[in-house]
Amino acid sequence: MKTLSFPSLFVLTSFFLGAIQLHVSNAQLNATFYSNTCPNVSAIVQNVIQQALQSDPRIGASLIRLHFHDCFVDGCDASILLDNNGTLRSEKDAAPNTNSARGFDVVDKIKTAVENSCPGIVSCADILALAAESSVSLSGGPSWNVLLGRRDSKTANQAGANTSIPAPFESLSNITAKFTAVGLNINDLVALSGAHTFGRAQCRLFSSRLYNFSGSGNPDPSLNTTYLATLRQICPQNGSTTALANLDFTTPNTFDNNYFSNLQTNQGLLQSDQELFSTPGAATISIVNTFSSNQNAFFQSFAQSMINMGNISPLTGTNGEIRSDCKKVN
Ligand code: HEM
Repeated sequence: MKTLSFPSLFVLTSFFLGAIQLHVSNAQLNATFYSNTCPNVSAIVQNVIQQALQSDPRIGASLIRLHFHDCFVDGCDASILLDNNGTLRSEKDAAPNTNSARGFDVVDKIKTAVENSCPGIVSCADILALAAESSVSLSGGPSWNVLLGRRDSKTANQAGANTSIPAPFESLSNITAKFTAVGLNINDLVALSGAHTFGRAQCRLFSSRLYNFSGSGNPDPSLNTTYLATLRQICPQNGSTTALANLDFTTPNTFDNNYFSNLQTNQGLLQSDQELFSTPGAATISIVNTFSSNQNAFFQSFAQSMINMGNISPLTGTNGEIRSDCKKVN
């Protein structure tokens, strides 16, 4: 029997290693998954969001956040969309989502529009990924080819949502650990935090920075004093805890790189935002500086990091199902 020469062994081994790597990094998703079965799905999603933006300039921000909160809990499987029922404890009632996550009605509108064209084909998990891309590109940010082929979970994980989604009061090292736990690195962390270039946050999620930071009786020292005065007007002591401030005070509804220049001038809204630039010696500082000075670099990294986040543990093949109503299992 002829033995394999070293070069052919090398080629074969590289091929199999390459195949394994592809399998892991692309997680079996691809950009043409619906090109025969629902070729217009991206346009359908985009149209519904464009309509919704007319009456709610915040909706794009709310939709991308749903994809993030979905992917960080047992992967991008639309588990966040399931309502409570007798046996299922909804992720919607987990601390990071309750009275906070929004846009579920628009997801249902998108699903209805998609079902009208291609019944039973497109998963709710893929709708969230497509909605995230449309929301960014319609707001002035980058476009990218969304990888598709995810299927929908039959369960939710409320406890997982409570523990896996980062909180705005956490340290940079805790937040980094939560990203690492789902296979994302600090480049992904800084790029994806740039999504706070649009959308809003409630006073209750940052007001401790304004009056009594870490029990000091004083405001967060890493907060610009003029910006502090503005935020105190929006969130007076003993005022409404649900009043809203723009995450990016300069261009609140536009997807641009101003989020990063805000951090450089101590005008990040959340503690977790400002920590990316103000934590002494942090590796995130130079990434903030790069994205602040080069919007193209930010847009490129953001698109790649959205693909990385969208690849977190999808259900594929015969796992999960294609829900016909995103709110409940079939
Ligand atoms: C790095 C850790 C992160 C923390 C601690 C965090 C925390 C928060 C908090 C506290 C809010 C305000 C929620 C409210 O007021 O009800 C918020 C809003 C938002 N987050 Fe994050 N976030 C993080 C990462 C991300 C990522 C990775 C994305 C997307 C890629 C994202 C997208 C958004 C958007 C767009 C909003 C505004 C939503 C709206 O206006 O409805 N965030 N985030």
